[in-house]
Amino acid sequence: MIIKTTALVVSNELVAENIYRMEILAPEISQNAKPGQFINIKVSENFDPLLPRPFSIYNAIEDKIQIIFNAIGKGTKILSTFKAGASINIIGPLGNGFNTTDEFDTAIIVAGGLGIAPFPFLTKILKEKNKKIITFIGAKTKHQLVTDGLENIKIATDDGSLGYKGTIIEFLKSNITNTDLTSFLSTFKIFGCGPNPMLKALVNLCNELNLNCEISVETQMACGTGLCRGCAVRSKGGIYKLACKDGPVFNSNEIVL
Ligand SMILES: Cc1cc2nc3c(=O)[nH]c(=O)nc-3n(C[C@H](O)[C@H](O)[C@H](O)COP(=O)(O)OP(=O)(O)OC[C@H]3O[C@@H](n4cnc5c(N)ncnc54)[C@H](O)[C@@H]3O)c2cc1C
Ligand code: FES
Repeated sequence: MIIKTTALVVSNELVAENIYRMEILAPEISQNAKPGQFINIKVSENFDPLLPRPFSIYNAIEDKIQIIFNAIGKGTKILSTFKAGASINIIGPLGNGFNTTDEFDTAIIVAGGLGIAPFPFLTKILKEKNKKIITFIGAKTKHQLVTDGLENIKIATDDGSLGYKGTIIEFLKSNITNTDLTSFLSTFKIFGCGPNPMLKALVNLCNELNLNCEISVETQMACGTGLCRGCAVRSKGGIYKLACKDGPVFNSNEIVL
């Protein structure tokens, strides 16, 4: 069930360079949400900006949901000014979420930048299911890393300021190859989220090694509910799917990035 509500901002704090975590009191959304789903936030009462902005559900804790966002443009800069006690117009939970019921015993989470956004919630659910978790996080520099709520973390930074120097996919590949995970890959599942070039490299790696992999895509969106058809992604069969409704989580061999 999709809920449209005016909710209360509980807190909004800076947690890394230009990155904020907002906690919102929204019991009906929190209690119905699955990891990988998102909410749409209308950041202004007027027409500027007109469209709501989508944000992954970073965590759902009792009657509250959390989001994490990078203040990069008009909408997110407005969002960064919201204080505790403010009202906020939100719709959610939207989209399909990750599938955690298929066959695997180790989850490899792979995140690029704020692609970590859906993973604290996923981590919580995977831990409840007693899955082993390894989390690979890539960021431009150590100042843009957010790791709260994640497990068993391996880090790569573009500038080498922390962890492996290079891309997170290169690092993941070297870990997989060096530790001979390939001998028991059938028990692994990869969960990925991040910018498109990272997702493409991840999908190529998973295809090469025949790994079960789901990715969450961050296509630009308008309505978020399947009406405007503005978020189409091409599927392998040549037909178009909607990132907001059929996704944002897709199996890696389902869509063309
Ligand atoms: C399903 C989904 C989940 C998302 N979850 C998060 C999240 O948890 N945290 C977060 O910070 N962001 C998330 N995003 C992206 C977020 O919605 C955009 O950053 C936001 O819409 C930017 O709004 P703005 O008004 O600040 O920027 P705008 O002024 O609209 O744009 C500023 C710049 O960012 C670029 N941009 C805008 N939207 C996107 C996008 N979706 N992908 C890539 N570039 C974009 C624009 O092209 C422009 O260059 C998510 C997007 C989707 C589709
Ligand atoms: S955003 Fe409108 S159909 Fe997906």
